[in-house]
Amino acid sequence: MNLEHNNKAYRIDGVSIKELAEKFGTPCFVYSESSISKSFQEIKDVFGSDKKNIYYSVKANSSLSILKLLLNMGAGFDIVSMGELDRVIKIGANPKKIVYSGVGKSESDIKHSIELGIYCINVESFAELERINKIAGDLNIKAPVAIRVNPNIDPGSHEYISTGLESTKFGINLKNMMDAFIYADKEQFIDLIGIDYHIGSQIETLDPFIEAIVSVSKIIKELKSKDINLELIDMGGGLGINYEKNTSPTMKQYGEAINKAIKDNELDSYNLILELGRSIVGNAGYLITKVEYIKKDSEKNYVIVDAGMDNLIRPALYGAWHNIVCINTNNEEKILCDVVGPVCECSDFLGKDRELSVKQDDILVICSCGAYASSMASNYNSRPKPPEIIIRNGEAILISKKEEISDLYSREIII
Ligand SMILES: Cc1ncc(COP(=O)(O)O)c(C=O)c1O
Repeated sequence: MNLEHNNKAYRIDGVSIKELAEKFGTPCFVYSESSISKSFQEIKDVFGSDKKNIYYSVKANSSLSILKLLLNMGAGFDIVSMGELDRVIKIGANPKKIVYSGVGKSESDIKHSIELGIYCINVESFAELERINKIAGDLNIKAPVAIRVNPNIDPGSHEYISTGLESTKFGINLKNMMDAFIYADKEQFIDLIGIDYHIGSQIETLDPFIEAIVSVSKIIKELKSKDINLELIDMGGGLGINYEKNTSPTMKQYGEAINKAIKDNELDSYNLILELGRSIVGNAGYLITKVEYIKKDSEKNYVIVDAGMDNLIRPALYGAWHNIVCINTNNEEKILCDVVGPVCECSDFLGKDRELSVKQDDILVICSCGAYASSMASNYNSRPKPPEIIIRNGEAILISKKEEISDLYSREIII
């Protein structure tokens, strides 16, 4: 956490939050560059070598400046759309350090990725494999693929982010995956290079990660017995962060556990990829918001702020909990309240049943908003997206301008 409190003032990496709110307006996202670099370096220190690669998962936070920072630190990229691909190419990423996942790749998405020469397409269904083979054949280029298997492992996180269970749309299940490997191995225009999985996000224990490695090592043995040899194991991402009382493992504990499982299962010779997102950027971001009104009701107190579910949808989507801090020093008695936004939905809340000492016009900081906040934002209720700022060496730098209302309808045609 880079939120500091001294001399009665709250700061992020030494910069006053009050001044940030005055200069950039509210709501706004603020990121700590040092926190992002520190998390990335932590995992790189335990899991970083020629054969151990960290591919940042762009969906967690796709800001160009953050991508560039991670590129400069040696990251590859895990993308799931042409929009994400364009972003990483724009910041100068090497296509040979890009992997492409997702269940719904269109013909043009596949064609573009093959032509660009990305490292690997992570295939999520038999039908996708057939489509890739056809497109690659038309292009007369061999397409590098990994089969994403669904190992049916419960990561213990919210059901919407538990992607490694057989009941989800992701990957090819254990029953059908061997057919996919055999098909990929024999087809002329497919270069079967690896196996891929991603069992979920916000995983707070190490066991599911280890279970997945054991499961994959069995698959690899079976493939070897059929003379199918791979070079790549893409282990996905998923390490959780501490939003409140979570006890997620540290990067070091996670990296060491992965290293040990890789060694124990004799998988050291493979090219290994981790696709981490949340654990790199999650705790490095803050959403700064102003209290517009306090509405006291007989049953509830509502603290109505100028940020809403359009800026941070995680509470509405997953019932996610974010720490909320009031930066003003008040003598107000603490009230039990829901912190809610201005959007016309009952699910537009940022925190429920919080005890805050707060008054109108105060500034609140919503913590742990570095991942799946701005990247999941919308314009619902025709609300423009807020500016984004990064703190670098004690200086606040604008990395994304506030959207103008006219931007919201700039693509529209009045007929
Ligand atoms: C395929 C894939 N890889 C990596 C990630 C990153 O996960 P996390 O941010 O939890 O590390 C995700 C996110 O859900 C994903 O779908």
